[in-house]
Amino acid sequence: MISPTLACADYLHLENDIRDMDRAGVDFYHIDIMDGHFVPNLCLNFDMVKAIRSISSTPMDVHLMVTNPMDYVDRLAELQVEYACAHVGALPDPAAFLSALRDRGIRPGLVLSPEDGVERVEPYLDRAALVLVMGVKPGFSGQRFLPETLDKLHKLSALKKEKDFSFLLEVDGGIGWDNIRACTQAGAELAVAGVFAVFGQEDMGLYEACVRFREETE
Ligand code: DX5
Ligand code: ZN
Repeated sequence: MISPTLACADYLHLENDIRDMDRAGVDFYHIDIMDGHFVPNLCLNFDMVKAIRSISSTPMDVHLMVTNPMDYVDRLAELQVEYACAHVGALPDPAAFLSALRDRGIRPGLVLSPEDGVERVEPYLDRAALVLVMGVKPGFSGQRFLPETLDKLHKLSALKKEKDFSFLLEVDGGIGWDNIRACTQAGAELAVAGVFAVFGQEDMGLYEACVRFREETE
């Protein structure tokens, strides 16, 4: 499954891009929300999520790169996004964050930054609907994939099988044609597709890139 990251879409032609991706049958839209504090950048906002929702019924996975993820829970519930996740290092009480989202009808997840080991999320795997492993430092698109990410995917996938957990395993950052197979073989079920995968590909348009990149994840 793929989740194109709308941070990399053409904002001047966002409606066209969304229609092309919907037609290609993408599984999710990945929505990066940044606060300029947890990471030194800003990205999409709630009004954009609302606008996108008005033209597409493709599920959204919201990735919070913010210092206080709990402050965003009610707004996410109003927008009725399907999945939302935050960095475990930004959460004093990850279990409380997961329950707050779940109580509001959102499937909740936790994110591992490159410096976080799998043990940071292990106590919560029974309650998480999604675990996102970052393949790059959060904050900017276009960075090179860190190979140690594969080891974390392997470990999480093994734990999922061993304990029969139901979380979706997602990988985000630096994913392209050269490393997608390694990610899925390591256990990633959902890949965030950015500039190395579907946006601005020289030899194909967005529609074709989405169709073909999605096939790489099957
Ligand atoms: C990085 C974001 C990613 C980013 C991925 O901070 O979380 O979702 O948009 O873009 P690429 O795939 O280009 O690295
Ligand atoms: Zn992201």
